[in-house]
Amino acid sequence: MVKTFQFRDIQVPTPGFGAMGLSFGLGTEMGYEEAEPVLLKAIELGCTFWDTAVVYGAGINERLLGDFIRKHNVRDKLFIASKCGFNCLNGGDGSVTNSASHIKSYIEGTIERLGFTPDLYYLHRIDPSMIVGRFRFKFDRYTNMMRGTPLDESIPALDELRKSGKTKYIGLSECSAATLRKANAMTRFFQVAPIDAVQAEYSAFETVHETDALIATTKELGVAYVAYSPLGHGWLVDDFAYESLDDFAPSDFRRTSPKFQGENFYKNKAIVDEIQKLAAKRGCTTAQIALAWVASRGMIPIPGTTKPKRLEENWASRDIELTDEEQNDMRRLINEAKPSGDRYDAARSKLVGN
Ligand SMILES: NC(=O)c1ccc[n+]([C@@H]2O[C@H](COP(=O)([O-])OP(=O)(O)OC[C@H]3O[C@@H](n4cnc5c(N)ncnc54)[C@H](OP(=O)(O)O)[C@@H]3O)[C@@H](O)[C@H]2O)c1
Repeated sequence: MVKTFQFRDIQVPTPGFGAMGLSFGLGTEMGYEEAEPVLLKAIELGCTFWDTAVVYGAGINERLLGDFIRKHNVRDKLFIASKCGFNCLNGGDGSVTNSASHIKSYIEGTIERLGFTPDLYYLHRIDPSMIVGRFRFKFDRYTNMMRGTPLDESIPALDELRKSGKTKYIGLSECSAATLRKANAMTRFFQVAPIDAVQAEYSAFETVHETDALIATTKELGVAYVAYSPLGHGWLVDDFAYESLDDFAPSDFRRTSPKFQGENFYKNKAIVDEIQKLAAKRGCTTAQIALAWVASRGMIPIPGTTKPKRLEENWASRDIELTDEEQNDMRRLINEAKPSGDRYDAARSKLVGN
């Protein structure tokens, strides 16, 4: 039974809430009136570790949360994380950027839209650039030049936000173990404080970071691991509503996600059936066993939903303590049932794990 998580000097309630799907990525773009009941339910339950990002609708998701928090005067109840790192405002091309000027200007927009400084600010993706020595180089398609974006620039810039009170904590999303190590080592060279959190994908359905050393490195360095898409983007549930790819809305990223394509769709659905059986044996829902599994690994899951009832269901996963036998069963299933298909399509997969 995992109900809170030690995050640096404070305890945060777990599971958290991923707000992305209210505005972006999963085919639902809710207005304020539609989204308000979900957010009210989260406040009522005490599910107050929330996640957003500038790129979720080019600021729309941050503004939605900001409007809600202002209206209900609940800033003090919440821990809010946001992210920069995509050039997504003012007609930006969506490319990844980690430059100090980007970090410094995007935090101002985040603060304006939220109406307050976030608790945690991440770099959403690490610059997918060439690494030469201590420097990263990136091809700029406009100037046809290689331009450098050294990690030595972005980490001190992030830390500067912390020092000036524009965020309390800093984090990296989808970084590699090597980048995390390098960023943390900067405490020695640049007198910056260490990275507080890593946000990366983890679920019974996607365990890549168990084998690429990221999870082990966060544990070794004492960095919190915030697990995104802990329901496998909606697979690990009882009432998965999609019979085929055609059922996803045109703006739903799962239309291009390899795990949902062709044969993979049906193979992966079969794996979910096995996890459903485990949940039924335990007397809980599939979403609950999936979230309890992530929490039992020492991570903070941040499931997303657009429905108050499901938020309640997901929140109740905190009451489930998996027995050793159940953990072993889950581990066996995960090891045997490797889901088919990469996490992202070819274009996007270049952006993870840098
Ligand atoms: N750092 C990153 O790069 C990154 C990437 C992706 C996501 N994230 C963060 O992680 C959060 C969660 O990720 P995610 O939304 O991709 O995936 P997820 O939480 O694994 O799954 C969300 C999907 O599951 C459905 N769902 C949720 N609870 C359910 C339940 N109890 N029963 C049935 N269906 C349920 C939701 O549909 P309904 O809305 O219909 O309930 C939605 O389609 C995001 O909101 C975002 O904050 C971060």
